[in-house]
Parts: sequence; structure tokens; C-alpha cells
Amino acid sequence: MSHFRFGRLNRSYVALGVVVLLVYMLFAHQDRLSLSSLPYRAIQPTDLTAQRIRTLPKTEVLAHAPGFSVIENLYWHNRTFYLVTDQPWRLPPIKLIASLSTDTRTPANGRVVAKIKSIRLQPVSPEVKESNQIGETISLEAAERQFGSAQVVEGPMIINNDDNFAAHYYHWIGETFLGSWRVWSNYGWRTGIKLPMIKRVAFTQQYSKDDAPPSAKPGKDIFNDKPGANIWFTEKFFPGVVWDTKAVWDNRADSGKVYRITTAVVADRAAGHSGPSAAYKPWGDVLRLPVAPDWLLTLRGRVFSEYRGDTPLSMPEKPLVVYLQRQDSSRRLVTEDHEALVDELHQLQREGVADIALEAFNSSMPFDEQVARIARATILIAVHGNGLTHSLWMTPTPRSAVFEFQPRTCTITDYSPLAIAAGVQHYMVHETDFCLPLDCPGRHCEKPGGINTIIHLKPKVVTDQIRRILAH
Ligand SMILES: *[C@@H]1O[C@H](CO)[C@@H](O)[C@H](O)[C@H]1NC(C)=O
Ligand SMILES: *[C@@H]1O[C@H](CO)[C@@H](O)[C@H](O)[C@H]1NC(C)=O
Repeated sequence: MSHFRFGRLNRSYVALGVVVLLVYMLFAHQDRLSLSSLPYRAIQPTDLTAQRIRTLPKTEVLAHAPGFSVIENLYWHNRTFYLVTDQPWRLPPIKLIASLSTDTRTPANGRVVAKIKSIRLQPVSPEVKESNQIGETISLEAAERQFGSAQVVEGPMIINNDDNFAAHYYHWIGETFLGSWRVWSNYGWRTGIKLPMIKRVAFTQQYSKDDAPPSAKPGKDIFNDKPGANIWFTEKFFPGVVWDTKAVWDNRADSGKVYRITTAVVADRAAGHSGPSAAYKPWGDVLRLPVAPDWLLTLRGRVFSEYRGDTPLSMPEKPLVVYLQRQDSSRRLVTEDHEALVDELHQLQREGVADIALEAFNSSMPFDEQVARIARATILIAVHGNGLTHSLWMTPTPRSAVFEFQPRTCTITDYSPLAIAAGVQHYMVHETDFCLPLDCPGRHCEKPGGINTIIHLKPKVVTDQIRRILAH
């Protein structure tokens, strides 16, 4: 054991071993030479550690209906939104999130409104085609490089992506704002999360009248309405809100930086119109999302935060019928029919059925006063028009109702969905009869005259139904 002795036999074994080794090395070397001339590619070791993929703020759609989306980590660069994800199948189609223009005929000229960047590993076979993928494939490294250090814009931010139709109380508060508040409320209701206050409101494609360049066209390029309702209501809803107007986005585009909006509530009119429940309106689908019953009352409460008027802010004991008249405008009731209606309403009052208030709001009445007077109405009656946007602020009770007058030749469903959204029954009155929203004829309006005409009304159609409602 302890002595290692090299005998003769052993020496010959060693010599043989050396020869075998030399021969082997010679051939092995030749072998390596021929292998190295074949194409050789190692699988790229990808450091897709769970930690890194988790750390990159990825885009998540938290709640959605066509046209209205709650989106976490929405990226933006040079007038294009970016959705950065490793789960592209969880994103709704882009056309249901955002559009380049309200007018879908506007030429794109190579622009797209949004791009999906999908973090993916390599494909498994040559049959896999990049053109079939959702979004553009990006490596985790590239995603980190391009988006990982984006400039943060702290939300929640409501984004109205319209390039038209905002400069009106109905078009903003009654349409795109309403839809975004609905999807946001649905998100809170569904998850039980206590929703944070909206910090910013953005108009990506419109200026405010304070920062618009001289070339901007009022109405199309500027979101302010004449009476100032859009700004007034929005600032009441969200005290201290920051306005990110097109002027702000223009600067962001010029900076060349990538931005990340922590939470965005995106409203897009054309995308809303693409939904299956649209029915000529942007919010047909989103208004079918369930929400807590007080989803609008929360906002209404904020409208009164600095209210100094005399109107009590609670419902009166006796039912109140508010007739919001507009006899000084071109779309109004035939004078005799208006007067007959007023007589019939006074008759209701004499019978003790309800109290009556005749209102004619104009721009010198503060908005909170207008809302206060609507908020206590059990029943609101009015000719088709902007004042009916206020039906959003009614108090939902089993007897609450809106009566809207239209000519017999029209059913324009602009305001009925607002009443329904507020939890209030809607009666579309066509001169001598009425219909409930789901029983009415489809949306239409015959020329000449259309909706802007003098409307006939048999007042008892309204007052008899009010008697029936209030008898319950
Ligand atoms: C933004 O995009 C436009 C083309 O749409 C391009 O001409 C411009 O250089 C881009 N700006 C920046 C800062 O990348
Ligand atoms: C608004 O209505 C009030 C009361 O009806 C009236 O006194 C006032 O002149 C009106 N203002 C405008 C601007 O029409």
C-alpha cells in the first residue's frame, strides 16, 4: 500500500495510455473543427426573474366598458398611448379604449392612438408569426429601458380623449364625464376599494379658453362651454383638480419624454360608439355596469360644498313638481299649451297632490342654486333641452320621474339615459301620449323642423300620470 512501485508491465501500460491519448486528441480536435463550421446559436439566457417583471410598472385595465376604461400605468409619449404588458390577452381591443378622432373618417396619416408593447420570450417554432401577435413584442430589457424610468404623472386622472363635442354641459358632464365616473364607480363598487379623489382632469386634444392659441376654434378645439358649467362642476366634484389641457400635452410631446400616468380613467367618445349597446351614444355600454346607488349623490353633495342659497337641501315632505320651462327659446311649447299646463299644475297643487315650482334657469343663477332646486324635485318636467342634464342631480325615490316633451315626430334619446342613470323613471311625452324608455320608438327625428320646433302638448297626459305616480 505504502510503496508505489513501477514495474515493467506498468511502464508499458503507461506508454500505451499516452499513445491512446495522443490519437484521441488528434481526432477529437478534428471533430471540433468540423462542428464549429455548423451554425450554432445558444438559447439566450433571459433573466426573467419574477422580481424584475414585477418591478416594472405594467399596464393593467382595472375596469372597462367600450369607451371608458380604468387603466393603471398608462404610458404616453409624443401623442401616443402605450400599454406595456406581459398579459396582452387581458387588454380590450384598442378601438374600444381610444380613438384618434371623434370623427372616425379623419385620416390617420400613419398615426395610431395607442400601441401595445408585449413582453414575450422567443417563439417556439417557425410557424409563429409576429404579425399575429397582440401588440409589438418587446424584451423585458427593452421594456425596462424604454418605460422603466418614465416621468410619473400622479393620478387618478380622468382623460377626455375627444377632439370635438366637449364645449357643452351635456357633452362633458352628461356624456364623457358621466361615462368615466360610471366606470370609476364600478371599479370601486366591484373591488370594495375606497376610491381616491380624482387629482387631474385631462383634455388631450382640447385647450381651455385660457391657454388656447388664437388659431384654436371655439367649440372644437376648446372645451369650455359658454355658461362655464364644465369647469364649475368639475372643480366642485374634485376640489383642487389640476387641468392637463392640450397645451400641457403639447409641452409633454415636445419634451420627447415618456410619461406614466399612475391611474387613468380614459373616456373616448368614438370608442364608446363602437360598443354593442351604444345606441347612438358613447355611454350605452358603460351605463350598464353596476354601481353603488349613491354614485351620483356623492358628486351632488360636493356641488353644495359652498352653497349659500335659501333652498333647503333635503327633500320636501310634500312631493314637489318642478316645471323647468324654456318659453323664451325657439324650442318650446305652443303658448296656449304651456299656459294650459301651468293651469293643470296649479290644479294639482289645489288638490293637495303636490307642490309646484315654475323655474326658468338662466346664466345669472348660480349652478349650485340650479342643482339645489332640481335635487328636491320629485318630478321634473321640461321640453327637450340642456336643462334636462340636471336630471342627474335628482333624488332617486320610487316616485321620482322626469317628463320630457318632444314633437310627435321625434324620439331623441339624449336625456332619458341620464334620468335612468340617476335612478329616476323617464317619460317621453309625444304631445298626446307618452312612453317609457324601453317601450319608446327607436331614436329618430323627422325633418323639417326636427327637434328645434314648437311643440304641442295635451297637459292632462302629464298631470294625470303625475296623479297616478303620487297616489302610490
Ligand atoms: C413626435 O412625432 C412626430 C411624428 O408624428 C415627429 O415628427 C416628432 O419628431 C416626434 N417628436 C419627438 C420629440 O419625438
Ligand atoms: C335671469 O332670470 C331672472 C329671473 O327670472 C331675471 O331677473 C334676469 O334678468 C335673467 N337674466 C338673464 C341674463 O336673462
